[in-house]
Amino acid sequence: MATINIGLFGLGTVGSGIVKIIGKARNAHAEIKRICVRDINKPRSIDLDPTLLTSNPDDIFNDPRINLIVEVISDAEASYRIVTRALRAGIPVVSGSKAMIARHLPELIDLQRRYDTALLYDASSCGSIPVIRNLEEYYDNDLLLEVKGILNGSSNYILSQVFDHDESYDSALKRAQQLGFAEADPSFDIDGYDSLFKLIIITVHALGVYVAPEEIFTYGISHINDYDINYAREKRVKIKLVAQVAKIGDDKFTMFVMPEFVTRSKYIYSVDDEYNGVVIRGECYDRQFMFGKGAGSLPTASSILSDVMARLHGYRYEYKKMGYRGRPAYTTDLPLKVYVRFKDTDIPSLLPFESISERYSSTGVNYVVGLIKLADLIANRPLLDTPDVFIANIPTFFTDLDK
Ligand code: HSE
Repeated sequence: MATINIGLFGLGTVGSGIVKIIGKARNAHAEIKRICVRDINKPRSIDLDPTLLTSNPDDIFNDPRINLIVEVISDAEASYRIVTRALRAGIPVVSGSKAMIARHLPELIDLQRRYDTALLYDASSCGSIPVIRNLEEYYDNDLLLEVKGILNGSSNYILSQVFDHDESYDSALKRAQQLGFAEADPSFDIDGYDSLFKLIIITVHALGVYVAPEEIFTYGISHINDYDINYAREKRVKIKLVAQVAKIGDDKFTMFVMPEFVTRSKYIYSVDDEYNGVVIRGECYDRQFMFGKGAGSLPTASSILSDVMARLHGYRYEYKKMGYRGRPAYTTDLPLKVYVRFKDTDIPSLLPFESISERYSSTGVNYVVGLIKLADLIANRPLLDTPDVFIANIPTFFTDLDK
């Protein structure tokens, strides 16, 4: 059995978890040979042979023993430099850097093919839930209709604390940071971009199509207020930050990230705290549900270990769906039913609703529920970028196959 000699980049929350897990995983036949960090003198929470540490990437790239690079750093530009350099050198990489991967996936796929090497990144999407490899292998056919779920642990943790434990939004956010769930810049979590990056990666493996971040409607939870929370409570639903990619008929699909009113009958209603939940829907099998910890040191490191061990057997993504006939095309030309709460912004006259089914006005708060095209939400996105406004999706069915 080959031995995997790892050069590790990053020793933060996930990197420390990897050191602990690789030490325990006897059947991985893996050993960490060097660890590249920004500051070798920084105090660390784990026991470590200090001679493993370096701040010079060349100590990893020029070490002939190293045959796998594991990269879990939060600086997306540095991560891009490391991963592309490794692939060009023919060294396989396991990465957890979703922002970087989502932005550069077409190029990263090309580099893997050109240099005949592999980049695995199940840890980038939904922590411990094996969503990427399952989409790539098991769901490698035309039956898949939709992948939808809670892909961000921090925002789900915050919403759970606010909804179920009456904690304030700010203190819940602080706790998500202390517990190691949140990104270095937590606005990525709460403004929906972390979910967006995961959704882009998932879509490549679900439908074989890459859509760039700028083309996708993304709206997070940072403007939610007590009125929205009470509105949801009165209707006996929860507000969750949901990312979804769904086929609209045979030859089109749509995708977006938005808070959603989730009824008790849905699988994701019970996905709380830092857990993630992914619903996969297809022709012939209706719905399947994957649930697990989506953030945190050891859950994410467990996914890295799974990719490290997959390399023992030479596993790589083949991106077969990208070459399939009849790949669906991305569309935003479809109506969504949304709730929009506002006070001073004149939402009913500024947003081009197709129809409004519910309208409430008072001196302190107003809201409308209505149908609006996703393309129009994208075109008017800056209007929604104020704490005066909060928007949430009220799910409707996209195809006749929905029940
Ligand atoms: N900040 C991310 C989250 C970490 O909260 O889900 C896992 O990707």
